[in-house]
Amino acid sequence: MTFQQPDLPYDLKDLDPFVSEEQMDYHYNKHHAAYFKKLNALVEGKPESDKDLETVVKESTGGVFNNAAQAWNHTFFWDCMSPNGGGEPSGNLMKAIERDFGSLEDFMQKFSDSAATLFGSGWAWLAKDSQGKLEIMPLSNADTPLKHGKTPILTLDVWEHAYYIDYRNERPRFIEQFREVINWDFVDQCYQG
Ligand SMILES: [Fe+2]
Repeated sequence: MTFQQPDLPYDLKDLDPFVSEEQMDYHYNKHHAAYFKKLNALVEGKPESDKDLETVVKESTGGVFNNAAQAWNHTFFWDCMSPNGGGEPSGNLMKAIERDFGSLEDFMQKFSDSAATLFGSGWAWLAKDSQGKLEIMPLSNADTPLKHGKTPILTLDVWEHAYYIDYRNERPRFIEQFREVINWDFVDQCYQG
């Protein structure tokens, strides 16, 4: 068995103007695809190849972890966005955000700050612990809340490859625009799950 890159949940051009078709094409068809290709080469004929991707992320280290986590993280990131995204979370998720961050505005500010100040490559995450408490986790390289016993709720890829075609060195502008495409329905499902 090999790990298959899932289809994007929308067309390459659909998140424009947040990211252009060219930016998504490189990100999905080159970078994301390459993590699957490298992962499959690394686990060929090994026990990991019969496990599900999330299990491999949780159990592996080194090159297998880096490629498995990047494969998983990107699929999760695509699901966190939608051409019909934006707006506000509803119901229980909104209450949890207000409980743990004060307000949606306070949360967005803290999340954006953590994404902007993350040094080098990485991901800004919103995660929940086993008690349901929300936490912003800026994590480097391929690191993910799955590795810390937490449940991912929302993520933003701040590797340069995520934005450099459209935004060049302006990571803060990319982060600011992310809010317009957040798929709060998906984020809410992750929170309830
Ligand atoms: Fe990426």
